Amino acid sequence: MKVVNTQPVAGQRPGTSGLRKRVTVFQQPHYLENFVQAIFDAVPALKGGTLVLGGDGRFYNRVAVQIILKMAAANGVAQVIVGRGGILSTPAASSVIRKYAATGGIILSASHNPGGPDGDFGIKYNSDNGGPAAEKITEAIYQHTTRISQYQISDAADLDLDVCGSFSVAGMAVEIIDPVADYAVLMQDLFDFDAIRAWFAAGNRMQFDAMSAVAGPYAVDIIEGLLGAPRGTVVNGVPLEDFGGYHPDPNPAHATELIAAMSAANAPDFGAASDGDADRNMVLGRRFVVTPSDSLAVLAANATLVPGYRKGLAGVARSMPTSAAVDAVAKELGIACYETPTGWKFFGNLLDAGKVTLCGEESYGTGSDHVREKDGVWAVLFWLNLLAATGQSVEEIITAHWARFGRHIYSRHDFENIDSEAAENLMTALRASLPELAGQSLGGQVVQLADDFAYDDPVDGSHSVGQGVRVIFAGGERIIYRLSGTGTAGATLRVYLEKYQPDVAQHGVETQAALADLIVVARELAQIKSFTGRLQPTVVT
Ligand code: G1P
Ligand code: ZN
Repeated sequence: MKVVNTQPVAGQRPGTSGLRKRVTVFQQPHYLENFVQAIFDAVPALKGGTLVLGGDGRFYNRVAVQIILKMAAANGVAQVIVGRGGILSTPAASSVIRKYAATGGIILSASHNPGGPDGDFGIKYNSDNGGPAAEKITEAIYQHTTRISQYQISDAADLDLDVCGSFSVAGMAVEIIDPVADYAVLMQDLFDFDAIRAWFAAGNRMQFDAMSAVAGPYAVDIIEGLLGAPRGTVVNGVPLEDFGGYHPDPNPAHATELIAAMSAANAPDFGAASDGDADRNMVLGRRFVVTPSDSLAVLAANATLVPGYRKGLAGVARSMPTSAAVDAVAKELGIACYETPTGWKFFGNLLDAGKVTLCGEESYGTGSDHVREKDGVWAVLFWLNLLAATGQSVEEIITAHWARFGRHIYSRHDFENIDSEAAENLMTALRASLPELAGQSLGGQVVQLADDFAYDDPVDGSHSVGQGVRVIFAGGERIIYRLSGTGTAGATLRVYLEKYQPDVAQHGVETQAALADLIVVARELAQIKSFTGRLQPTVVT
């Protein structure tokens, strides 16, 4: 065991989902070690406890796993459970923490951010419920990084990560497990695998684009293996350290190969993709894209068709910028619907307290109380179960849903990599204009409410402020503005746009056309052009 002297490195405060930086930043001397030591210092229960460890397999994953194993040994951790090859998808890590009643877990991922030597890396701590650590823990970790003077590490040799079994690192027990097995068991508890097998056997076809990221092994084992889908159903199924040079983000802007396949004349019946660490999902029908907000609403409305949710839902939750489509379902089902700030960590308390069963975000994240992370493969299996149970197509399910509940037309416009100061100035000016907005008419619509969203957690009473500017119109239209908390360079301004359309005859409209007037209002109100110099967003989803 060695004690190594170090100094604080500025800027190690975790963002929306852990600490994310360029790989080159993590490769700086002591950078990773400082943060990991801060975790051990902030969570004393890890001493003598069990830690789950794994990541999405991106560049630096294996290096980081070896360092963390040696530091865990030196910090008195009793046992580490690692996915073979250092691999665990984020939802699988959450399920493993829960199944083995671990003290917590360290997940190595920068989610949907590009990987490789010039890409991004990330690390986050999850608590014993399997979910992202609450703000008071991430803040304590950060505080430790600001005053760290030494870290502990063993000088044991590297462990071979590619063989399952029981091993030891400097006297600490290490269990290397199949990263898919426990997760696959959980999925079989929730979904009707016989019905889905029959759906494939009847000749229905699917394309799952794993985007050369960590979902590959899960999708291959479960969809092609247990569910009997033909080989080749999963494409880009081998995780690569740089995701093949692509941006592993499952949305129409980045999953272009899948969009093309689903638009082709011989398109499969069902398309799906997931991100770097397999917690996000996008689902599509033949020539039909499903927005994540609609997906959440459809899962909620049809949950009782799925064995794991047959008893019904305790409640649902969505992040504030997510459309109100699920609210309409909750109202009809007579269950509670919670509106939380952006980021999965805010769902944890509601799930732990049994207040909600399903939750989701507009950013291609959907999940339930089976784990404490969003779960891409789970969402895809949920949809497969619905397709099998109803015999309907994706398009039929969505259009029937709109006919019943109305359509919440929705889009997100991202202005990426803008100057950080310009972004802050824009938000400051916007916030300053809020008090006068209510009652004003913008683009012919009257503003009903304009505020900076704050949240009171109904379980632990914690209060979170500054969670995004909302401008809500009397007709139900919404414009939301926030700055991304997951980027690693410059700032990203996200503008969320939503309009409710109850008229079935109007449900076939093209989304951007339907939102055109709101888009103009949104850009003018925030003076996006004068603050950022940008006329158009870089990504529209
Ligand atoms: C983004 C998404 C947010 C999601 C997070 C982690 O965060 O908008 O919904 O929880 O990634 O996947 P942001 O960059 O907006 O802070
Ligand atoms: Zn992710």
